[in-house]
Amino acid sequence: MPPSAIGRTYSPGMTIDLVIRDVRILDGEGGAAVEGDVGVASDRIVSVGPSGSAGQGRTEIDGAGRVLAPGLVDVHSHDDGALLRHPDMAFKLAQGVTTVVIGNCGFSAAPAEIGGESTRSFLGVDSTWTDLDGFAAAVDQAAPAVNAVALVGHNSVRSLVMGDDLNEPDAAQLDAMKAHVRTAMAQGACGFSSGLIYHPGRSATTAEVAALAAEAAPFGGIYATHMRNEGDHLLEAVDEALLVSRTAGVPLQISHHKAAGEANWGKIVRSLARVHDAVDAGQDVTLDVYPYVAGSGPMWQYFDAENPDPDYSKVIRIAKCPDFPGFEGRMVVDIAEDESRRRNEPLEAHDIIRQILAGPGARNVISIQFIIDEADIETNLRDPLVMVGSDGIADLSGQPHPRLFGTFPRVLGHYVRDRGVLPLAEAVRRMTSMSADRFGLVDRGRIVEGGYADLVLFDPETVIDTATFDDPKQEPSGIGLVVVNGAVALEQGTHSGVGSGRLLRYRQG
Ligand code: ZN
Ligand code: CU
Repeated sequence: MPPSAIGRTYSPGMTIDLVIRDVRILDGEGGAAVEGDVGVASDRIVSVGPSGSAGQGRTEIDGAGRVLAPGLVDVHSHDDGALLRHPDMAFKLAQGVTTVVIGNCGFSAAPAEIGGESTRSFLGVDSTWTDLDGFAAAVDQAAPAVNAVALVGHNSVRSLVMGDDLNEPDAAQLDAMKAHVRTAMAQGACGFSSGLIYHPGRSATTAEVAALAAEAAPFGGIYATHMRNEGDHLLEAVDEALLVSRTAGVPLQISHHKAAGEANWGKIVRSLARVHDAVDAGQDVTLDVYPYVAGSGPMWQYFDAENPDPDYSKVIRIAKCPDFPGFEGRMVVDIAEDESRRRNEPLEAHDIIRQILAGPGARNVISIQFIIDEADIETNLRDPLVMVGSDGIADLSGQPHPRLFGTFPRVLGHYVRDRGVLPLAEAVRRMTSMSADRFGLVDRGRIVEGGYADLVLFDPETVIDTATFDDPKQEPSGIGLVVVNGAVALEQGTHSGVGSGRLLRYRQG
């Protein structure tokens, strides 16, 4: 790694911008903590050494023996629009996250049509760009508090080229889609993503997905997928993802690995075994997980609007519902009970779902579905190939899934400290160096001289999520300091508003 210009001119005893003293340094590699000081000049770490080794800092922070780790990387976010709508990114920054991967599940901000409808409904803002360079300019202008790196999404590319045409693409359409992927990759996307349970991606053949993923190969990019099935056909879906990755010649990232539905709980032992077999055979495969027993997303995507599945309806909670705001934050079974009484007619959960999906705002409804087994979360977290991603949906208007605010402190507090599922240093590795390497973040994810100063100071004895399903918009406790590109972004619960994040380009410094 080439040291920065500042790194080369730094000499002990110099006055530098920021010194964080008396910390236990977890460097991100997974080894034991080392006590010492860390010095920062401009946007880089310039000294890592024993206590008293750093020069004078213009800003001095007493770490008081807490843990200093590299800034955390949220490898599965849907923050594409949030970077523009909520540049303070408070819900991520407060968790110690300094970089988010956007463009997941096949939905990305670029490519887009200026003012295009599908981009607007996905991002919550009008696009003023057509490609990743244009989006990057918009992000830089918004000056978000955290960094981001982008995947280019299959659903977005397909909608742009084919609209609502669900047929196989003809040669010209496939070429047009490939060109969009290629352009995004040339402009610094880290790979290609799919969301094969979603419209319109679910209409695509394996061959179409592989042909598009192959466009990432010359750039060394990855293929990240929300697989075609995460329940009854989980194992077949893993096989499809492995096949796409092999055919296209790109590494595979399996997003939010889970076994959905009670009948499938425990099956992830078998899907993980399949992944490990593939890795043993030479394939490059990693995964991510969010630490909650519920998923969340646009409700219309999960149901037949006229005939909602009765069993599935029973595990649904409403996060956001413009037509019936009174339903927000409630389980649909409870809504059905109240409505039955009020209207004096027998109503089941699926009747309520049908009613919601018939409304004018149906496509803006976000649901939370309780479909995951607690034991499976721990199985995932124990596996060394599994990183952490929040999958949070940054729509703050309703009662969002608490993962938006709580994912990383929940792993560090609940799963590491309270449950002992994995060691702290290993959890930090899987949220920092491993993620940074996978998603091509150069000079990030480690505490090392010359690296970018993305840092989080936390107390491993107290760090914990406080966001719950009933009260989801709560920042965690135990995070003392967050530094992004050398600037203090959060200190003792106060967001500085400095906006030092950047749109990063894959494998470029
Ligand atoms: Zn997804
Ligand atoms: Cu997602």
